[in-house]
Amino acid sequence: MHNLDEIKLIAIEELKKIKTIEELYEIKSKYLGKEGIITKRLKTLRDLSIEERRILGSKLNEIKELLENEFEMKKEEIEEGGEIKYDITLVGYKREFGNIHPITRVYREIVDIFKSMGFSIEEGPEVESDWYNFTALNIPKYHPARDMQDTFYLENGKLLRTHTSPIQIRTMEKKKPPIRIVAPGRVFRRDEIDSTHSPVFHQLEGLYVDKSVSISDLKGTLESFIYNLFSKDIKIKFRPSYFPFTEPSLEVLIYKNNRWLEILGAGIVHPKVLENCNIDSKVYKGFAFGLGIERIAMIKYNINDIRLFYENDIRFLKQIKGG
Ligand code: PHE
Repeated sequence: MHNLDEIKLIAIEELKKIKTIEELYEIKSKYLGKEGIITKRLKTLRDLSIEERRILGSKLNEIKELLENEFEMKKEEIEEGGEIKYDITLVGYKREFGNIHPITRVYREIVDIFKSMGFSIEEGPEVESDWYNFTALNIPKYHPARDMQDTFYLENGKLLRTHTSPIQIRTMEKKKPPIRIVAPGRVFRRDEIDSTHSPVFHQLEGLYVDKSVSISDLKGTLESFIYNLFSKDIKIKFRPSYFPFTEPSLEVLIYKNNRWLEILGAGIVHPKVLENCNIDSKVYKGFAFGLGIERIAMIKYNINDIRLFYENDIRFLKQIKGG
């Protein structure tokens, strides 16, 4: 008498060798037929004690099920015409690797640089009130600066933020100086789409408020940021500008591909803006800056059309891997 494990192995071996349906049924009846080896053993169970019956019974049933499965598989194999069921010479599916979107990539690079300088990250809502987006930033109703940032107005009087600057106000309302933050986000403008404009794009805001913040702190911070992001020998130019929420205001340009390119706006936080947030402008000063992430990405990777970022064309997305 073989023990059960041996019977199982022998049956599987026998199954491997057969080639026809007739042989398969022969073997099936040898093990599982009326007079089959397994069937007979199952019949002897009733003469055993409850304990023995339980152990042996479950073992026998396990083998029975396994053999039934093996028979089914063998049957399919024979019916499908022989041993080779799959064409192993066919080309398989290749799993493509994904890629970080260029906007995300550049955003992360920028944020990492500011983090290393001690800035932390803040966020704000995309649907804003007039107060946060304009009025608190010293852009009252009917101020001409509103024309350049026309947006989408909601029926409840709220609007889609035109820049990340409202996060300056929100942060100064909830935190006491010293404040050192960057704030990324999606912004919206009523602009016609062309190679450099999109009604939805991304910005990053920076804000530093403390007792003695000067324009040379601003200059040093931005220079060190730009050298890190581009390269140590890039040429940088500061030029006067105007924003209602900074005074003085300036623009920063870099020299690339034989041209001066504007990459961000900045300035010393206007005292009125500090006062709007209940920060004493006689004690505290601040600097702020704002940059367009798409614009930086375009300059950094020589991309000539902003629309490429949103079309999800894999041929474009695959090309930008550097960093
Ligand atoms: N919010 C300005 C814009 O969108 C950029 C800016 C931010 C300028 C902070 C100065 C200070 O154009």
